[in-house]
Amino acid sequence: MSSSTEPVHLWLRAETKKNERRTALTPTVCKKLLAAGFKITVEKCTERIFKDQDYVDVGCELVETGTWRTAPADAYIVGLKELPENDTTPLPHKHIMFAHCYKQQGGWKDVLGRFDRGHGLLLDLEFLQDDKGRRVAAFGYYAGFAGSAIGIDVWSHKQLNGDEKYPTAKPFEHENDLIKFVKERLDAAAKKAGRLPRVMVMGALGRCGTGAADFARRVGIPEENIIKWDMAETAAGGPFREITQHDVFVNCIYLSKPIPPFLTKDLLAEKDRPLSVLVDVSCDTTNPHNPIPVYHDATTFDEPVLVVDVPNAAPLDVVAIDHLPTLLPREASEMFCSDLLPSILELRDRKNARVWTDAEKLYQQKVQEMKQAL
Ligand SMILES: NC(=O)c1ccc[n+]([C@@H]2O[C@H](COP(=O)([O-])OP(=O)(O)OC[C@H]3O[C@@H](n4cnc5c(N)ncnc54)[C@H](O)[C@@H]3O)[C@@H](O)[C@H]2O)c1
Repeated sequence: MSSSTEPVHLWLRAETKKNERRTALTPTVCKKLLAAGFKITVEKCTERIFKDQDYVDVGCELVETGTWRTAPADAYIVGLKELPENDTTPLPHKHIMFAHCYKQQGGWKDVLGRFDRGHGLLLDLEFLQDDKGRRVAAFGYYAGFAGSAIGIDVWSHKQLNGDEKYPTAKPFEHENDLIKFVKERLDAAAKKAGRLPRVMVMGALGRCGTGAADFARRVGIPEENIIKWDMAETAAGGPFREITQHDVFVNCIYLSKPIPPFLTKDLLAEKDRPLSVLVDVSCDTTNPHNPIPVYHDATTFDEPVLVVDVPNAAPLDVVAIDHLPTLLPREASEMFCSDLLPSILELRDRKNARVWTDAEKLYQQKVQEMKQAL
């Protein structure tokens, strides 16, 4: 159903953001796209979880890192994360990526200005929606899965090593490696503590929440120890003492409107409260309506845990990493790309594909906002 005889040309650029091992196009998906008549060029990349050769093996053309700037004018430049901030040159291509510039984030006018000056086009992955207004592809499941993994492992670490600092977290090659690692430590910790932890997941019906509960199951935590709350359970409004009665709390809600806090410092001050680990997958740290206002700084893979001191009670270990799916770059990329595939296939007739015409309209609207704000 191509509107032109030329194949759609996708150019997968190498990511430049530090520690980003995920990709917007996996070899599995490239193979399907090539079979559907696409042309795919892949930039060499040593960080990407998939090897350059994996792309060559399915039939992609391999080129040097960073050569997207001189790609043919009709190529779609595909990537995940932001382009390097220190580059201000105009962007003449069509880019498919998460540009993080539609919610007036820092530097948004500069980013949109580059597209506008170059007569390029931004088709932002965050805003590709199906006809029910849901995102066609997102990384949420593996964010919750990874957040739950780190949270449970921090609990184990505390049983096994007391107050010793929690070590740096590194991406795992495969999901099963992460499960094995966490499960072995959990089994040892549970033996020492005489019990398994109780894990409470907030926003349990969503993508992140589903991933968080699934991880707990995969390491052998029984269903009765996985407490799942969503809108119905919080309808009365917080704060909720129940949260402090579980060992690990994983917050996975999508905050769309102001709500009363789930947790306060006062609630944490309860002596002998079970809660010792908080994982804030939602990471609404800078939002004025942050429902977990007991800490203020995000954490990183280098230093995953922030210790919040609580007067007259035990401190609370907080994990608030805003790029959790990076812990499992292979599976997170595979899930994201396979969800994205139907939309990518529609690029063959982009001008008649609602998902892309909506994305283009949104881009035009954001460029107008940018011009008005200058
Ligand atoms: N830390 C990371 O690396 C990372 C990665 C991806 C997504 N996220 C964030 O995680 C959040 C959730 O994303 P998602 O894709 O799972 O969203 P989603 O829409 O799939 O799920 C959100 C869930 O939260 C529930 N919810 C909303 N308000 C609630 C409330 N007041 N009480 C109880 N439940 C409530 C909803 O009913 C829904 O089930 C988003 O803020 C997203 O930006 C973080």
